Amino acid sequence: MAKVISFANQTGGVGKTTSAINVAASLGVLGHRVLLIDLDPQGNSTSGIGVAKKELKISSKDILTGNSTAKEAILDTEFDNLWLIPTNISLAGVEFELYDLFEDGQLPYILKEGLKPIQDDFDYIIIDCPPSLGMLTINAFTASDGIIVPMQCEYYAMEGLSQLIGAIKGIKKKFNPELTITGILITMYNARFRLSSQVMADLKNYYADKIFDTCISRTVKLTEAAGYGEPVYYYEKNAKGSKQYLEVAKELCERI
Ligand SMILES: Nc1ncnc2c1ncn2[C@@H]1O[C@H](COP(=O)(O)OP(=O)(O)OP(=O)(O)O)[C@@H](O)[C@H]1O
Ligand SMILES: [Mg+2]
Repeated sequence: MAKVISFANQTGGVGKTTSAINVAASLGVLGHRVLLIDLDPQGNSTSGIGVAKKELKISSKDILTGNSTAKEAILDTEFDNLWLIPTNISLAGVEFELYDLFEDGQLPYILKEGLKPIQDDFDYIIIDCPPSLGMLTINAFTASDGIIVPMQCEYYAMEGLSQLIGAIKGIKKKFNPELTITGILITMYNARFRLSSQVMADLKNYYADKIFDTCISRTVKLTEAAGYGEPVYYYEKNAKGSKQYLEVAKELCERI
């Protein structure tokens, strides 16, 4: 049965999508069967692996509204062992539709129910969450075994993190007792910034066992690769980002 991992942080621009794409692709390189689900109306995971957002026939929205099954929504990608459930801006209004379609008590479980029929088709299901703690993210957390929190070593990062951990605890208690934080992944790291090393030291103090041993360095290749619609491993196999995300994928397999 697939392990379901959400990449989440309500802070925008911290590397959720970059990490979801590249960890998913790295797991595929390591021989695991991986499904990446784009659950952010921005559709950056979709375009980031080369799928045209505008031309989607079926998207993650259709699984939530019940217009399609998860199986129907899956697209094959040109990358090893990697499949995608894409999305686009049409997902943005879905929360209102869901309130009409479902009873309140069913709302947090819609994605979990939708994924049940495909759980045995993959080793890992990776969900790229939007930068908010709304109903989409709640659905992702309820469907997940673990959460990876990508974060930058910035001044306000610790504040955001404690808010996020509070929300995760709430969802664990109400909807998904098995939910755990698989790890905190430091992204866009630059050890030469004194602030980064300071925040890193604080993080290690509070959350030592949760922080991935591998940090992702700040490197323009990751942005370039996304612009080409490729995981960095396929864009430049020997790039620092390729090696680091492969290490993170290996660590993930050990952690979950
Ligand atoms: N390690 C890195 N080095 C340099 N640039 C990076 C790195 N990781 C991500 N970026 C760039 O930073 C920007 C934000 O990254 P990304 O889209 O992954 O964040 P996000 O958390 O998914 O954002 P959002 O909250 O909008 O969904 C992108 O332009 C991305 O290419
Ligand atoms: Mg994103």
